[in-house]
Amino acid sequence: MGKRPFIIDCDTGTDDAIAIAAALYCNEVEIKAITSVNGNVKHEFTSRNNLDLIEYLGFDIPVARGAELPIRYNGYHEDASDTHGVSGLGTIKLPRASRSSFDRRMAPELIYEAALEEKGELELLVIGPMTNIAICLLEHPDLVKLVKHIWFMGGAVIGGNVTTTAEFNIWVDPDAAHIVMQSGIPLTMVGLDVTTAVAMKEEHSLELRACGTKAALLCADLLDYMFIRRDAGGEDAIMHDAMALASAVYPQCLECHDYFVDVECSGEYTRGHTMADLGGRMGRKPNVSVAMKVDGPAFCRWLTDAIMRSKDNENKKCS
Ligand code: BDR
Ligand code: CA
Repeated sequence: MGKRPFIIDCDTGTDDAIAIAAALYCNEVEIKAITSVNGNVKHEFTSRNNLDLIEYLGFDIPVARGAELPIRYNGYHEDASDTHGVSGLGTIKLPRASRSSFDRRMAPELIYEAALEEKGELELLVIGPMTNIAICLLEHPDLVKLVKHIWFMGGAVIGGNVTTTAEFNIWVDPDAAHIVMQSGIPLTMVGLDVTTAVAMKEEHSLELRACGTKAALLCADLLDYMFIRRDAGGEDAIMHDAMALASAVYPQCLECHDYFVDVECSGEYTRGHTMADLGGRMGRKPNVSVAMKVDGPAFCRWLTDAIMRSKDNENKKCS
């Protein structure tokens, strides 16, 4: 069987970078393009990080810019630079990519063209705010029929990490998430309910360092940055975004249930909350497969192995 065509839409971001590295070396998928969105840090940084990362790892795939602001901009720039550092990659500085130009297309256009080209087979890994996908849906309603599946990191059935009820990716652009959630495209949600149950440990970083490839060393550096952050009272080495990749290529490590899910776009306390009708009381057709349980050790093993696959493929090119 051929590799499944994927586009990664992201706000790179320390854990986005690890998810991208793992995806590039996955046997199951072929990354057709990387598109960026405003999120963890400003778009000028998330887009630059993607360009630098892809060239640093030796790949030659389109890297496109995307939305700089959420659909309904409230004048306040949300970010997570306290978690990911000012540039988005913690203390890691990648060499500046020599490829000076991004793809000529903006993310929504690139995604739509790729979806047409792949004739219904394209899958999206969405690991930042959903602005680009929502814009694409607004501009091209037929995208619904062209995208096979969206695997996304975002939301939480219970709790949040920005407010009591909202997770960061959804909080940044709830209107976009609402549009995607109600689009009819098959969706798998990997939210805080599962991502915060697992953290990578020093042993994983040591294993990656021993592997010694560029990708493995970079991921080890990113993990070590996260350990310092954790020890200073910040977020642990949680692999939010890589777990969304796992839902697509290693679903055995997750237990998912189908629910009707929608997003609160306003609300004094609940803006950005992903409401899941757990008890089926609303009588609405389920629209999202929601990850509710994770096998932590199996996930960490899979992720470490995926990155270490760079040993066989360090110079592999995707197109
Ligand atoms: C999500 O927000 C970002 O900080 C991470 O990259 C992840 O996508 C977790 O809430
Ligand atoms: Ca992210």
